[in-house]
Amino acid sequence: MTDITNQTQAALAAIAAATSLNALEAQRLDTLGKKGWVSLALKTLGGMSPEQRAAAAPAIQTARADIAAALDARKAALETAELEARLARETIDLTLPAAPAPRGSVHPVSQVMDELAEIFADLGFAVATGPEIEDDWHNFTALNMDETHPARAMHDTFYFPDKSGDGKDILLRTHTSPVQIRSMLAQGAPIRLIAPGRVYRSDSDATHTPMFHQVEGLVVGRDIHLGHLKWTLETFFKAFFEREDIVLRLRPSYFPFTEPSVEVDVGYSTEGGRRVVGGHGDAPGHAWMELGGSGMVNRRVLEFAGIDPDEYQGFAFGLGIDRIAMLKYGMNDLRAFFDGDPRWLQHYGFSPFDQPTLAAGVGAKA
Ligand code: PHE
Repeated sequence: MTDITNQTQAALAAIAAATSLNALEAQRLDTLGKKGWVSLALKTLGGMSPEQRAAAAPAIQTARADIAAALDARKAALETAELEARLARETIDLTLPAAPAPRGSVHPVSQVMDELAEIFADLGFAVATGPEIEDDWHNFTALNMDETHPARAMHDTFYFPDKSGDGKDILLRTHTSPVQIRSMLAQGAPIRLIAPGRVYRSDSDATHTPMFHQVEGLVVGRDIHLGHLKWTLETFFKAFFEREDIVLRLRPSYFPFTEPSVEVDVGYSTEGGRRVVGGHGDAPGHAWMELGGSGMVNRRVLEFAGIDPDEYQGFAFGLGIDRIAMLKYGMNDLRAFFDGDPRWLQHYGFSPFDQPTLAAGVGAKA
């Protein structure tokens, strides 16, 4: 009995004196560990008579409970002391940049869309959007392409298996032009907007992907003519490419929804293996690159959209955003735009702080 009391006092003293978690663990093994004296003493109870056990057990159990409580208390005290010491030791300089350095970047397509919005906003254009899942009325019919129109076949359209509730074919829009229709129906004339977004065609090689980006432009007002279209495109491209020597070539073309229709080419040269926009495409060392389609809005389209073509005229254009991004920032494979490869994004992406502004330059560093 007194033995156990003495041993317990000694153990409690040693526990209280332990100055590290290691020293404390050694005390635990000595007492409550498998071969510790408390555990061994508990085992002897099994071989005793009931009377002996009744006499011996309380002292041993008290010893075990006291020692366990002392171990817990000392452990908590040592841990708290250690945490406080660490907090005192470690200082954090909150003014240092986060480590590792931030890796995210703004995709060139997003950056160019912001640049477009900035430039066209300065010319008084609003930004409009429309659904990527369209019906064939908005995507084709209202754009003067009825069911039998051959231009429908040229669009390599992705159709959905089911029709809409009112019996229309449902498809992934093949161009941003349906936003013209939706905007005219919603707000009437006059109108001045751009509509950037994703479009889809079943087509794939180094310069075509099944999903790509276009920006639609639409201006409807009184006495709008082709000169306004040319000026707008020239002004836009000068601001976008940040150079004055941009030369556009408007080439007669055909779109069912514009009349007359013109395709827009821009002059470029090849400097150091890289296409650089600027100069006359027929000059030595220069060539033309097609950037998109445009024209005066067809009377039939204005009628479909509820606008009186005798009162209002308009022009429209559709440009490939990925194309003009490639030209400006020097990528040569369109497919890499949509691979999501972090190394590509690291190289061609933009800092979120590179907000395009007319004052600081819409062409932030690439
Ligand atoms: N929607 C046409 C296309 O995708 C481009 C275009 C837009 C042409 C507006 C004329 C006017 O090819």
